[in-house]
Amino acid sequence: MKEFKRYLITSALPYANGPVHIGHLAGVYIPSDIYTRYLRLRGRDVISVCGSDEHGVPITIKARKEGITPQQVVDRYHEIIKNAFAGLGIKFDIYSRTSSPTHRVTASDFFRKLYDEGKFIEQTSEQFYDEEAQTFLADRYIMGTCPHCQNERAYGDQCEKCGSTLSPDELVNPHSTVSGAVPVKRSTSHWYLPLNEYDGFLREWILEGHKEWKSNVYGQCKSWLDLGLQPRAVSRDLDWGIPVPVEGAEGKVLYVWFDAPIGYISATKDLTADWEKYWKSEDTKMVHFIGKDNIVFHCIVFPSMLKAHGEYILPENVPANEFLNLEGDKISTSQNWAVWLHEYLEEFPGKEDVLRYVLCANAPETKDNDFTWKDYQARNNNELVAILGNFVNRALVLTKKYYGGVVPACGELTDYDKETIAELSGIKASLEANIEAYRFREALKDAMNFARIGNKYLADTEPWKVVKTDAERVKTILNIALQITANITIAIEPFMPFSAEKILKMLAVEPFGWDNLGSMSLIAAGHTIGEPSLLFEKIEDDVIERQLVKLDEIRKARLAAEAAQNVTEQKAEISFDDFQRMDIRVSTILAAEKVAKTKKLLKLTVDTGIDKRTIVSGIAEHFTPEELVGRQVLVLVNLAPRELKGITSQGMILMAEDASGKLELLRPENAVNAGAIVG
Ligand code: 2FM
Ligand code: ZN
Repeated sequence: MKEFKRYLITSALPYANGPVHIGHLAGVYIPSDIYTRYLRLRGRDVISVCGSDEHGVPITIKARKEGITPQQVVDRYHEIIKNAFAGLGIKFDIYSRTSSPTHRVTASDFFRKLYDEGKFIEQTSEQFYDEEAQTFLADRYIMGTCPHCQNERAYGDQCEKCGSTLSPDELVNPHSTVSGAVPVKRSTSHWYLPLNEYDGFLREWILEGHKEWKSNVYGQCKSWLDLGLQPRAVSRDLDWGIPVPVEGAEGKVLYVWFDAPIGYISATKDLTADWEKYWKSEDTKMVHFIGKDNIVFHCIVFPSMLKAHGEYILPENVPANEFLNLEGDKISTSQNWAVWLHEYLEEFPGKEDVLRYVLCANAPETKDNDFTWKDYQARNNNELVAILGNFVNRALVLTKKYYGGVVPACGELTDYDKETIAELSGIKASLEANIEAYRFREALKDAMNFARIGNKYLADTEPWKVVKTDAERVKTILNIALQITANITIAIEPFMPFSAEKILKMLAVEPFGWDNLGSMSLIAAGHTIGEPSLLFEKIEDDVIERQLVKLDEIRKARLAAEAAQNVTEQKAEISFDDFQRMDIRVSTILAAEKVAKTKKLLKLTVDTGIDKRTIVSGIAEHFTPEELVGRQVLVLVNLAPRELKGITSQGMILMAEDASGKLELLRPENAVNAGAIVG
């Protein structure tokens, strides 16, 4: 395997149109932080760059909605995202932004070089235009029905329901999201990167050269290539973005997916004057951490751009994760179905590592996974508290109790001690192999194995019993337990840096380097440890219940909003006379029974005040006969009688039904005499 001199780690630049949620963290930022921390611990030359993606249509849509400028939108979210990452210990060497001056120049120069060298094709085409708002309708400015799954709210670039990548022309019944208008076609010219010309390069580089990539990534690349690549527009008719640096291109900006990945280069430039050594040397290993929706851009489009440019290296790996769902439903920023990082940090102070742990242990590495609050609670209580916290606490508290906190010397080792030490020494290689292969869930299990083995060691050797009969032996046991504790600070640092630091403080020692992992002489006999305190606290049911109630409220609000959006159009106008001709009376249901051999029909006997009559109503799936008897309802009494399943129905019960299918019978708020006229 090739040895690299340095590492350049990039993490997908989050859009600055909303805060970061657990899906982003599990998919991209926790894995990239674990990997980078590991490399730093090993003393490698590594930089980790990220920043806000501040262009693109979703940002301008948000600004319009809120009546503020796109710059105000990105300023707000850039701060929120940056602080939230720092709060969770996601440690980038730079967290930059694509509205920075460096980025504007870098992206413009990149485009200009490709333009000057004739790497683009310029094409005029008919595109959707909103005559009311006087704007072309790129990407999310246009909505319509998805041709694949019939979702009526698919965007011009993607259907969020089935995940298909779309172009505006594929939408059925397109309409503008700016004004709601039905768009017309207008001609406009744009620059295209002819991806089809990079087919040979991509096949050789990925399909031949990177068979080791994760199967989800490799598979997606292969299917894109097998479907045949098409030229991709790299400019848009918009007023928010980096202006196309070409004469006569007024009103056109770089497509956000052209400028965003160049943001990795500009961030590196802002970080260090020595940026070229990271971007232009084959000795650098560049790794892109992304979510699965970004695969095509990072494996096909950006590499083609880099190849066209010619001066930059290509990524060595692109370990994309699948998606994390929340309580069984797809996480959605627009529908507020998420656990937001900044809110978590406020609501769970001191529990940063719990979230890091749960999101890594349950990371969607090979398939979509589900985050549930019950699982969060179980992992905290049964793993962090019961295994890691418990072991560290016992080792430190016993040392304090028996030796006043002074580390006892290690005496002669028993066979069992030797077996335990041998078992521990095997973990390092597995941990390293797993991290280097981007298998962070397995790597976390390895790290936790230090604590598992430590717990078992104490449970088997029982120093609290042995102390009564063999005080010398207990010194060795606790020396070993403390050496394991010291090892834990190294092994868990990439995953749970706050806890690693806390244990170091309790041990009153400085951090050990990665190379010391596995050593049984990390803490010298005679060293005095600090004060033990609990690493993790049990999470009680009421804490979890509060989160579930919060989500339930969001779910209800979403259903109500969906129902409101699906309101059926108003019917044709009627005259007052038409209305007057309807005779609606408050009536009382006297009897109700199911109509034999039907699922939906109930036969009701009602007192209309005028008479007692039979009405057949299709409400059997919503109400039982028992709950209807005695209820008052509104009845259209002068509707012509109809024959239903051999029964003559004389009138119609009035009810309200929303788009979700929820059905309510209408009735007066307080009881009135049957026969009261409604109007
Ligand atoms: O999907 C996203 O959130 C994009 N903002 C990621 C951009 S990654 C890179 F290219 F900048
Ligand atoms: Zn769809």
